[in-house]
Amino acid sequence: MLEKIKSEASAAIEVAADLKALDDIRVKYLGKKGEITAVLRGMGALSAEERPIVGALANTVREEIEALITGKNEALAAKAMEEKMASEKIDVTISSKRAVQGKLHPLSQVLSEIKDIFIGMGFSIADGPDVELDYYNFEALNIPKNHPARDTQDTFYINDNVVLRTQTSPVQVRVMEKQKPPIRVIAPGRVYRSDAVDATHSPLFHQIEGLVVDKGITMGDLKGTLETFVKALYGEDAKVRFRPHHFPFTEPSAEVDVSCFVCGGEGCRVCKGEGWIEILGAGMVHPKVLSGCGIDPEEYSGFAFGLGLERVAMRRYDIDDLRLFFENDLKFLKQF
Ligand code: DAH
Repeated sequence: MLEKIKSEASAAIEVAADLKALDDIRVKYLGKKGEITAVLRGMGALSAEERPIVGALANTVREEIEALITGKNEALAAKAMEEKMASEKIDVTISSKRAVQGKLHPLSQVLSEIKDIFIGMGFSIADGPDVELDYYNFEALNIPKNHPARDTQDTFYINDNVVLRTQTSPVQVRVMEKQKPPIRVIAPGRVYRSDAVDATHSPLFHQIEGLVVDKGITMGDLKGTLETFVKALYGEDAKVRFRPHHFPFTEPSAEVDVSCFVCGGEGCRVCKGEGWIEILGAGMVHPKVLSGCGIDPEEYSGFAFGLGLERVAMRRYDIDDLRLFFENDLKFLKQF
């Protein structure tokens, strides 16, 4: 009888799948109403000779079953721990997914460099609207009604009086109307011209306007300022050259070249053999423009300049196609 209980119990313990099943087995055999307990209880019916023998045997079987249960218990606990470890395993050798770090557009990079240079010279930043009155874009800048720049071939007209500004020069007028000299500002921004897109033309591009008005400002101040700027941007060896030109809102006017920073003036592919690269227009603010803004040209004088941002960035990074700035191709943009 006891032998049968023992073999049944050990078989059940052997196949117990979890701790709950194991506990059920313990109750079934060793519990208060369990089978071993029942045998011990039934010993009253035995003879005095049989009793100690059966009692000893029952105790042995109980101890053996207990030992088996303890052993199985440990085995199950170890197996559960192993499974938990496996399911929570972290492979520290898998490479992480890095967040992609964005960066500034090359035009923004060059612009902030240019801003830094002028801020260092005491300039502040001015701003004007992209959708501009004809008055500010042309009239107040002494650009007459029949001037070719006013042609619808070149200018986007919203209506007879409103255009998309073709230059940042109208900001000069807006600043002078609001602020009395001394004035020292640069005004970066978008400008628009109805040009067909190609490697050197875009209907949208950027200019940086500069304006200085004070008592006794001369062409020497213009030259000194631009020279300082060009050396800061392209290096100490850079030189500037002024060529006479005509702009309606400056008198005298000049186009300004910088010595080629690739060949240093010898002539190369970048400067097309010239040794010089044109980077901006400039001049002394026309007295008519000053007086139109309520500034007395007898008392004050000033200089102004207009710089093409794309042009500077193209030269800086040796980019040969303007369209690359606007296509937002990440393969291109990531290089800067
Ligand atoms: N606004 C001119 C242009 O778009 C550039 C320019 C020339 C600006 C001379 C100036 C200047 O302020 O003095 O071609």
